[in-house]
Parts: sequence; structure tokens; C-alpha cells
Amino acid sequence: MKIAVLGTGGGARAHAAKLLDLGHQVFVGTRAPEATLARTEPDMMGNIPYGQWLASHPGITLLTFGDAAAAADSLVINGIDGHNAVGALSAVAEQLAGKTVVDYAVPFVYQHETEHPWPTPWGVMPKLDPCDTDSLGEQIQRALPATKVVKSFVTQEQTTVVDPKAIGGGDHTMFVAGDHADAKQQVTDLLKAYGWIDILDVGALVGARGLEMYAHMHSAIGFGLGQQFGGHFGIKVVR
Ligand SMILES: NC(=O)c1ccc[n+]([C@@H]2O[C@H](COP(=O)([O-])OP(=O)(O)OC[C@H]3O[C@@H](n4cnc5c(N)ncnc54)[C@H](OP(=O)(O)O)[C@@H]3O)[C@@H](O)[C@H]2O)c1
Repeated sequence: MKIAVLGTGGGARAHAAKLLDLGHQVFVGTRAPEATLARTEPDMMGNIPYGQWLASHPGITLLTFGDAAAAADSLVINGIDGHNAVGALSAVAEQLAGKTVVDYAVPFVYQHETEHPWPTPWGVMPKLDPCDTDSLGEQIQRALPATKVVKSFVTQEQTTVVDPKAIGGGDHTMFVAGDHADAKQQVTDLLKAYGWIDILDVGALVGARGLEMYAHMHSAIGFGLGQQFGGHFGIKVVR
């Protein structure tokens, strides 16, 4: 399949590489391809410059967000920084119409407020906005009414979301939320191809609120395990 991954961060790289391994044609979206390729410094999370990474993943095509979205048959992964995702996706709404967008972004606002002094790489805990009474997933769906939005992946960090068997032999839980059954099935099929065996459909897209707010719990568990921000662990819903 032709699949688009919008984003050049660590999470987006993990999905792009995995999709390539699975035999898909992968189109990665960025704001300005030439500027992205010209970067020489690691990003905020310490990922190597994109051009360097791309050189070791031949076969991935780097395009603008709009061109990558247009190149996808029917499935697009959103890995755009959460606080900027609605604006960036709205600008390419036409290219996303009729397609499934699986969104794993967290609506973090990175600001140095001393009331959240968590041991993140920035020294503070980013704030979630929206939170509680709305979610980024729902905002994206409202902005893109002709697109089917599914919230998933968001509860897992970038290396293990595409390699669930790396933790507990894969015996942990992944979630999907969305208002469109066919789109959720499409994402579930992708998750199975990634190796997920316990996939819990939490229902309508309103469930994205809980999946996004889990970000704080994810950080807390990681710090409890003595890990860096991110965390190499899974969570299991025991029925
Ligand atoms: N990485 C993970 O393990 C993980 C796990 C769960 C959830 N998340 C969440 O998923 C989202 C993406 O994470 P990530 O680590 O893959 O990448 P990221 O570093 O958070 O985001 C990078 C992407 O955001 C784009 N971007 C940044 N500012 C922008 C703006 N003003 N307008 C348009 N686009 C902009 C960048 O565009 P350019 O390509 O042009 O630079 C880049 O493609 C985040 O919300 C993150 O919190 C990440």
C-alpha cells in the first residue's frame, strides 16, 4: 500500500521504517523538504538530523505534508507535534479527504512553568491542552469532517509501538478510538501487522481524551521504573 507518515520526529521515523520493512511504499510529510534535509543538528529529543536518518532508509520519499497526504491510498499517520497538528492538517484537508488519519500526537504545550518541575529533558512537565473536556483527536476530526480520524499508538513509545514483542513477548494492550468502524478496522489491521495481539477498541473518538491524558501516567510509570522520558514498558488491561 501507499501510506503517508506526516512528521519527521522519532515516532514518525519508527512508523516509516516499520512500514517500509512491511513492504509498503512510504511517503513522509514535512513542512519544507529541502530545509528538513539541510538540518545538521539533532532535534529536541536528540534524534539525528533527518537527512542522515533518511540516507540509511532508502526507499522512503520525503515530500511536503500536502504531497505526502495526496500520495497515500487511504491511510495516513499523523506524527506532527501535537500543538501544531490541527493547523498543519487543516491546511491539507483536501488531500486527506476520504482517507483514514491515525493520530498518535499528544497535545503538549512546552513551556517552562515552575509548577511542573518533572525530570523531563526540559526540566518541566509539558501541559496538555486541550484536556479533560476535549482532545486533540476530536479537534482534528472536527477540522477534517471528510476524514476518518482514529486515535491510537499514543500510549506507547516509539520503538515499542512498532515492535510490541520487545516487551513481555507482546502481552500488553494497545488502544483504538474513533467514530468510524471501517477506519478502526484498518488501524487494527496495521497494528496486527506490527505484531500487536491485544488491541482494545475503547469506542468513540471521545475516548481519545483518556488516551491523551495517559501521557502523564506514562511519564510517571517511566520515572518510577528509573527510565528516561519515553519508557520501555507496556501496559496490560487485565480482564
Ligand atoms: N515519539 C514517541 O514515542 C511518541 C509517543 C506517543 C506520542 N507522541 C506524540 O506524537 C507527536 C509526534 O511525536 P514525534 O516524537 O514523532 O515528533 P515531534 O518531534 O513531536 O514532532 C515533529 C514534527 O512536528 C512538525 N512540526 C513542528 N512544529 C510545527 C509547526 N509549527 N507546524 C507544522 N508542523 C510542525 C515537524 O515538522 P518538520 O518535519 O517540518 O520539522 C515534525 O514533522 C507528539 O505530539 C508527541 O508528543 C510521540
